[in-house]
Amino acid sequence: MKSALSKLGQRTQSPPISWLMDLALSRPHLISLAAGFTDNASLPVDFTRELVDEILRHAKHGQPALQYGPTAGDPMLRELTAKRLTELDARESSRNQSERIAAESIIITHGSQQLLYILTEALCDPGDIVLVEDPTYFVYLGIAQSHGLDCRGVRMEADGIDLDHLEQLLKRLKQSGELKRVKFLYLVSYYQNPACLTTSFEKKEKALALLRQYEKFAGHPIYLLEDAAYRELRFTGADTRSALCARGAEARVLYTGTYSKPFATGVRVGFGVLPEPVLTLATRIKGNHDFGTANLVQQILVKALRTGRYETHLSNLRRRYARKSAVMEKAMEKYFPAGVTWPAIEGGLYFWAKTPTRVKTGIKSRTFQEALNADVFYVPGAFCYANDKSRRKPDNEMRLSFGSASEKNIREGIKRLGSVLHGRS
Ligand SMILES: Cc1ncc(COP(=O)(O)O)c(C=O)c1O
Repeated sequence: MKSALSKLGQRTQSPPISWLMDLALSRPHLISLAAGFTDNASLPVDFTRELVDEILRHAKHGQPALQYGPTAGDPMLRELTAKRLTELDARESSRNQSERIAAESIIITHGSQQLLYILTEALCDPGDIVLVEDPTYFVYLGIAQSHGLDCRGVRMEADGIDLDHLEQLLKRLKQSGELKRVKFLYLVSYYQNPACLTTSFEKKEKALALLRQYEKFAGHPIYLLEDAAYRELRFTGADTRSALCARGAEARVLYTGTYSKPFATGVRVGFGVLPEPVLTLATRIKGNHDFGTANLVQQILVKALRTGRYETHLSNLRRRYARKSAVMEKAMEKYFPAGVTWPAIEGGLYFWAKTPTRVKTGIKSRTFQEALNADVFYVPGAFCYANDKSRRKPDNEMRLSFGSASEKNIREGIKRLGSVLHGRS
C-alpha cells in the first residue's frame, strides 16, 4: 500500500537538534557541549516574576495580556523592536531618525525559527535553490531538506562569506540555467552558528549588490536573508551594521532576530523586518500557523524593554558569556593536542574546533563514540554542511558550546574531550 503521507511529510527527517537535545535531557550527568541551550543560572527568574506580577496586578492590563492578540504581533512590541533595531544600526552608522525602521515592517513570531520556516514556505517550491554558508545553521538545513530545496554552500573566510566564491557560484548557476530557481542567500551574519564568524557590513553590502546583479537573469528578486540571532551576544569588539543599512536593502533584505538568546530561550519570541510583498504573505502564513504569538510573553518583553531591565540583564549576560568563553578557551589550550585549532571569537555561544583531517569527528567516528563513553558530547561539524554535490563535507570539525554547561563542567568536559583527542592523535 502507498503511503498516505504528503511529499513534505515523507521528506521530513528527524532533525539532529531534537536528538541532541533529547540526549542532553535524558542523560543529565552527560556534559553537553552540544545543544544550544543558554546559561541556566542567568535565566531571569526573579525579574520575570516581577514583570508578570506587574502585568497581572490589574485586570485592565492583565486581561488583554491573557487574550489573543494581532497576528503580526503586539503593536507596542513591534514599535519597541523597530526602535531598538534602528538604535543598534545608528550606533554604527550615520543613519538618522528619518531612516528609522518602521514598526509596520516588523512581524513578531514564535522564535525566529518559526519565521525561518515561514519565509521558506513563502518563497520556495520544491526544487528551488537556497545559497547557504558552508558551514551553516544545521536546523535550517532541516527546513530546507523537508521543503525539497537544493542548498548550495558558499565558502567562508575569517570576515564572513567569500564573495569571490559567491560570484563564481552565481555565474555557474546562470550558465547552467538554474538561476531562476535561486530564491535567497541565507546568512547567519553575527557570531554565526556554528563557526562563530561574523560577516562584515562591507561584505553584506557587496553580497547584496551581487544578488541584485544576477537577479536580472533569474527574472525575479533574489533576497538576502540575514539571520541575526546572535547579534546581541557580543562581548568584545564593535557591533556591525545590519544588511538593512546596505544600498538597495529596502526591497531585498529579510532580517530575522530573536529575544530568545538575549533574554530567555523559554520565552521564544522572535521578529523580522520584511519588505512587501513578503511581509503580507508571511503574516498570512502566520495566520494559518497560529494567528499570533502568545500575548503574555510579548507583554513580558514589552515591560522588560520599557523599564530598561532587558538592557541590564543583557549586560550581565554578555559578561557571563565572555567569562565562560574564556574558561573554555583556556581549557582547550591546556587540554587539546597541538593539532587542534579554533578561531578567536567576539560573541555568540560557540567555538568551532578543527582536528587534523585524519581525526574524524562525525557521529559514527571513534572520537564521537569515545567522547560519549566519557560522558561528554559536541555537535559534529558535518551536520552543518549542506548536501552539496560539488564538494565533500569536511568531517574533522566540532561545534563546542559554552552556553549551558557550568564553568566547572566546561573545564571538565574539555578535559575529557582532550584526553579522547590525545588518544586519537
Ligand atoms: C542561527 C540561529 N537562528 C535562529 C535560531 C532560532 O532561535 P529562536 O527560535 O529561539 O529565536 C537559532 C537557535 O539556536 C539559531 O542558532
